[in-house]
This record gives sequence, C-alpha cells and structure tokens, in this order.
Amino acid sequence: MAGPILIAPSILSADFAKLGEEVRALDEAGADWIHVDVMDGHFVPNITMGPNVVRAIRPYTEKPLDVHLMISPADPYLESFAAAGADRITVHVEAVPDIAKSVATIRRLGKKAGVTIKPATQPSAIASVIDKVDLVLVMSVEPGFGGQAFMPAAFTKIAAIKAMIGSRPIQIEVDGGVTPANAGACARAGATVLVAGSSVFHGGDYAGNIAALRKAAGG
Ligand code: DX5
Ligand code: ZN
Repeated sequence: MAGPILIAPSILSADFAKLGEEVRALDEAGADWIHVDVMDGHFVPNITMGPNVVRAIRPYTEKPLDVHLMISPADPYLESFAAAGADRITVHVEAVPDIAKSVATIRRLGKKAGVTIKPATQPSAIASVIDKVDLVLVMSVEPGFGGQAFMPAAFTKIAAIKAMIGSRPIQIEVDGGVTPANAGACARAGATVLVAGSSVFHGGDYAGNIAALRKAAGG
C-alpha cells in the first residue's frame, strides 16, 4: 500500500486531565489518526480507558479514532467501542478465541478491522485472516506502557507481514518506541502508519514532533 506515511499519535502519553483539548491539539498539529490505547489490567498490566473516553473525545476531531484494544475478552466490547465513535478497531490475536469472528464482527459494525500481535507472536498467527482485515498492527514493544525502547526485531516482522500482504490495500501500523531515529527503517521495512506517544508529546511541540517523524519516515 503506497502513499505517504501516516502518523497516529497515541493519547496514552497525553494529559488525561484535558484529553479533549489534547486531541484537538493533535488534530491541529497534523495527526492523521488518533491512536487510542485501551488497556484492562488483565490482558496487559495497566488500565487506561474505555468506550466512554472514546465517546468523550469524539467531538474534538474529525480524524479517524484508531482504537487499539489491549483487553481480554475483547468481543463483548466491540459494539460499545463502535457505538462510541471508533473508526478503526484493532484486536490482539492473543486476546480472542476466534480472530476471524472478531474481525467479522468489527466489519459488520461498519468499522475498519485491524489485527495485532505481541512481539513474541509470529506473523503466521494472522495468516488466516489476512484477506479479511484493513490493517495489521506490529507491536514493537510489549503492550502495556508508553515510553519503552523500540524492539529492532520488529523490522523483520514488518517485512514478513509486508510479504504476506503483497499488493493488498492493507495498512501496516507499527506501535511502540517509534522515534525519528527508527521511523525511516520502519517505513523502508513496509510500515504505512506509525504510532507514537512519547516522541509526539515530549517537549510539547506536537506539530514539530509529528513533522519530524513524517520527515524521518520519508513521508
Ligand atoms: C503500548 C501502546 C503504544 C504506546 C506507544 O502498549 O500500544 O501505543 O502507547 O507509546 P510510545 O510511542 O511512547 O512507545
Ligand atoms: Zn497502541
């Protein structure tokens, strides 16, 4: 899937006391998508936000809300995230009993469907649904927290998934530890969307940080 690289800032690094304003600021700073990290303290050792937060931030941007579900079970909550205003919903293959059923549900709800795998999970785990998704999210850190170091093994995984996708119009999103120092290599490996929390929010110059990521990625 050619075209310019997309930047999806993660609000996990935002000021939770003013999330709506932060989302509006990211939108105005040039974010292409808004990445919403949902964590349940069960699938990952952290708790963040639920459908009500998606509903609350929805009015602050027209940009796609890219919801990353780090929850298990995930299926019982797909409808509420869709109703709250999510545009894209991504589920972990490790968190659901039947990934094809979860993906079909997301599409039936009228949303873009994504699948994602933890660093230790092989790309083969999503081969069965590659023809049914709009996005594959490659975790370049262990899910659960922002501010972690990028795991270079992700480059190989990105390339493997790109080979699996071939010419299909499926986005490859990379998530975790993305900075201008590794954005170019992510793009060269095949990434089309970069999630970034710390590297967008650090220092407060959201527009400058987003532009630096886009430039580094060659977008
Ligand atoms: C981690 C989340 C990532 C993370 C990205 O579980 O899925 O989206 O918040 O944050 P940084 O860019 O700080 O690693
Ligand atoms: Zn994420």
